This record gives sequence, structure tokens and C-alpha cells, in this order.
Amino acid sequence: MLETAGDEFLWQGRPFRIVAGAMHYFRIHPEQWTDRIEKARLLGLNTIDVYVPWNAHQPRPGEMRFDGILDLPRYLGLIAEAGLKVLFRPGPYICAEWDGGGLPAWLTSDPSIKLRTSDPAYLKAVDEWFDQLIPVIEPFLAHHGGPIIAVQVENEYGAFGDDEQYLRHIVDGYRRRGITELLFTCDQAHSEEMLRNGGLDDVLRTGTFGGKVDTALATLRKIQPTGPLMCAEFWNGWFDHWGGPHHTRDGRSAADDLEKLLAAGGSVSLYMFHGGTNFGFTSGANLKHAYEPTITSYDYDAPLAENGDITRKYELMRAAIAKHVPVPDQPLPAPAPTVGHSGIVLDSAVSLLDVPGTPVESAEPLTMEALGQADGFVIYRTTLPEAGPTVLTVTAYSDRVQVFLDGNPAGLLERSRHERSLPVVASRPGAELTLVVENAGRVNYGPGMLDPKGLLGPVTAGGAELSGWTQTAVPLDDVTGLPFAPAGTRLPIGPTLRRGEFTLDTVADSYLALPGWERGAAWINGFPLGRFAARGPQRTLYVPAPVLKAGVNEIVVLELQASSSDTVDLLPEPDLGIVAD
Ligand code: GLA
Repeated sequence: MLETAGDEFLWQGRPFRIVAGAMHYFRIHPEQWTDRIEKARLLGLNTIDVYVPWNAHQPRPGEMRFDGILDLPRYLGLIAEAGLKVLFRPGPYICAEWDGGGLPAWLTSDPSIKLRTSDPAYLKAVDEWFDQLIPVIEPFLAHHGGPIIAVQVENEYGAFGDDEQYLRHIVDGYRRRGITELLFTCDQAHSEEMLRNGGLDDVLRTGTFGGKVDTALATLRKIQPTGPLMCAEFWNGWFDHWGGPHHTRDGRSAADDLEKLLAAGGSVSLYMFHGGTNFGFTSGANLKHAYEPTITSYDYDAPLAENGDITRKYELMRAAIAKHVPVPDQPLPAPAPTVGHSGIVLDSAVSLLDVPGTPVESAEPLTMEALGQADGFVIYRTTLPEAGPTVLTVTAYSDRVQVFLDGNPAGLLERSRHERSLPVVASRPGAELTLVVENAGRVNYGPGMLDPKGLLGPVTAGGAELSGWTQTAVPLDDVTGLPFAPAGTRLPIGPTLRRGEFTLDTVADSYLALPGWERGAAWINGFPLGRFAARGPQRTLYVPAPVLKAGVNEIVVLELQASSSDTVDLLPEPDLGIVAD
């Protein structure tokens, strides 16, 4: 068992240093888990840091998923087989640039619940989740001979609140359900207040930071006079928002700071060792002065690239680690092969407005979550009573509204630009108003996590409230059976799903480029590659080799706006965009 003694960790009674790296199973194709774990071992890591996304495992109350990319027991088993240990971080909140920070949509849309506090309604949901999760991972706890040596309580809680009773409830909940392993909290180490508020005096405090190692460790030491010094998230890269620059961190600077941390006797978890991809609609968003959704790639400029390739940063960090703990004396694997295929024609189409769904009628618009849906789109329909020009105001929505009048494009409102009104012209009384409302990702950090999607308030025309709505949820969780029809070479006028086929002789990793396409999402062989947007920074989407087939492959692209092309390309190289200064 892992214990602390004085300023050290002890494993089976002997001094032990945790050299871990974060790697999220839910961001890696399951057929690539073994490869990534092996590369963690070769870096010299002895532990993998594993978050658990509650919202993915429990999309609806009472419904549990542990299959495919969510097969947590299989992932933990593979880590154990590789001889590595696990830092287990089940939240229940995980942040992680993940939709809603891992909190399920049915909680983040309910204004009556105080998230991440000791509000009984929130704790009841947490308890029901842990009642399901903990028996599943129990065999993997160290006291049963499994790899989980320590378990985190909440996540950077001091950056959010100071409800000690809530933290205590999580600790007691772990203990009551049979977790006897070492517990820890993590908080931003440059803030004494966060370190203080986010922890409990009988639970090990750890810090999260990427630089200024000496000050971070000194602050942690001040708040916690004894105990092992640990950086639970050493930020060796960073993430990107749509429309922003691509963030990188110099490998030398990351390796030097890691070296400093290890030289000071610290334990560490690299955030991220391997970032992976926000497949489908899983990426989160930030909300400060404006709403900023996170991109699809979670490459993070981590030591192991999005496609699992070893980078220069990996080599520099491996050399730093080797000075302090044994690193396997084995050659490093060569880069993964890649494949390209230009000019894939998307020659059939279906309008997003024609995707089958169940229309629900109501006087006032219903939110996405009230329709029982978490991701994708809601299509709202009503009529404008009068002909002529008017001001259409959508008083509250998340996150993007495309407006159509009698089926013709009539404008766009974006939450990220704080827009609510636009001029429209109805050509007749009773013109059909259609609003396509997109969920672009739930806020995963800070006070803005109550983040319901869809229409959230009245819609007015010329100041008069519109009523009599029909709304259809369009989750796009399965695009394989949609009613595509031949589109010839007609260019997509959005929002349209386009479909095409391409043939490959050999299967390897690839990168989907969509030059001339504006904004949407893509799937290959039914696998959701994620969202794309012309404004970048990323210009390609990672296509994991196991998604592709030798022979005929099917691609589906959703274009929300309009495209000047009816083809897309598979490229052999990624393009994550222009780097921030
Ligand atoms: C914090 C969180 C992580 C992640 C990083 C930024 O440290 O704990 O989940 O959001 O910030 O990537």
C-alpha cells in the first residue's frame, strides 16, 4: 500500500517516488491503449493518472456505460499488465477541458442544484454515481492487488469553493465504499488560498503548476508543513480554443522544470503525458468575459503526440527522468505510419432539418436537456405572425443559433459574441421560423458551469413574444442510417450532412483536412472524429488507424454554414495551426 512517512511516500514500506503521467482512456481509441501505455512505461513513468468522466459513463440517471472507449476496467487491467500503477481521479468533477468538466448534462442544466457543494440534491446524484462506479473499479484497488495506489478527492476545489462539508462527504463516501488507499487533493500551487480551501488537513495536499517550481513547492510546503511534495499536474503543454492560437511549450523548458521538481525530491504527474482527442461532441469550454469552446485536438503539445508519436519533448523529459528514477533501457518505437487520400467526393446529402426525430410541442421553447438530450442540436420551429421587416431577439440561448425563414438562411447569433438580435424580413404573414441551435461544448471551469443548452428564454419578434413551438432533438449520435440522397456536385448549403466513400489499400493513421468547409463535424465509418471550424487553429482532424478499413470506407461531414468545395482530403501529416507567440 502507498503511505506517507515524514516527507516521503512509502510503497510496501520502502521510499517511493511517483513519476506519473495523465492519459485519458476516453480520448484514445481503445485499440491504441496498449501502445500508449507501453510508451508511458518507456518514458520512465511508474504510474498513469486516470480521470473518470462521469457524464460519459452516466449519460442519463440510472443508465451506465462501460463499453468500448469507456471500458475503464479493461484500461486499468492493461495498465496493471504493463506493471504500472494508477493515480485514480474520479472527480466527481474533473475539469480537463471535457464537456461540463465531467458533470452530467442533467445536472449542469438544473438551476435548482448547487453543483460542487453539499447541496443534498447534488450529493444524492454523486452518491448514486459512486455506488455504480466504485464496485466496478474495486478489484483494481491496491489492497486487492490492483494498480490503484491513490485516489483524488474532487479536483482543484479551492479554485471553485470552500465547502469543507462537501469534500468531507466525498472522503467519507470513498471510505464507506471500501477505498482504503491513500487519498489526496490537488490545487493550484501558486495560491495559498486555493491550497487551503481545496484541501482537508487529514488528506494529502498536492499542487498543480507548470513553472516557477521553487515558489510552487514553497507555497505547498507553507500550507502543508510535512508530507511528500507532489505536483499532481505538471503542465508541460496547454490546450487551444476555436479561433485562438495553437499553444505549445518548449520541450527544453518543460524538461528543465521537471528536472528541478525531481531534484527537489518531488513526485509528479505530467499533465498531459498523452492528450489524445476530444472525439465527437466531448470538448468543453471556458467562460470568462466570453464563451470560448475548446478545440477537438487535445494534443496538448504533450510529450507523446496526439497520434502516439514520440516527440523531442518526450526525449528531453525522458533524459530528465532518467537522472532520478530508472528508465527502461530499450529503444524507442519509430513514428507510426500514415496514409493519405486526396479528393474524396461527398456526393450524397441530407439536410440537418430533415434528419428524423421526434417533434415535441410546447407553448414556450424547451431546453435541450428538457428534451432528454445532451449533445448536438435542437431544431425549433414556429411562425412569425406578420410580414415585413422586424427585429428577431433570442433572449437566451446556448451556444449558436442559425435562423431560417421559410427555409431560407436569415442570419446567425453567436454566444461567444454576446449576440441576441438580428433583423429579418418575413415575405408573408405566418412565415415559418426555424432556429437550429447548436451545443458547442459545456463550460468546464469556474462559476459558469450551470450551462443548459438550446433556447433558454423567450424569442421575440418586434418585441412580441413568439409561442407555439415545435422542437426536435438531433443528437447525431448515429449518422450511419441517415436518409442520404444523391447530391451530384451541388455544393452544400448548410446545415447539411454530406456522405462519400473512399477506398484504401492499407490502413494507417491519417488526418482529415476540409479546405473550403466552414464549420461542423465529421465521422468516418460511424466513428465521431469531432468538430471542425475554418477559423482553427487546428486545420486537420486526427483519424486513428483503427477507424479505417482496407477497402471501402464511409465518410460523413456535417457542414453547418456553406462550403465552397464538395471534396475533403486525408493527409499524412497533422496541422494543428499557427503557434501562439
Ligand atoms: C487544471 C485542471 C485540469 C485541466 C488543466 C488545464 O489543472 O485540474 O483538469 O483543466 O487545468 O489543462
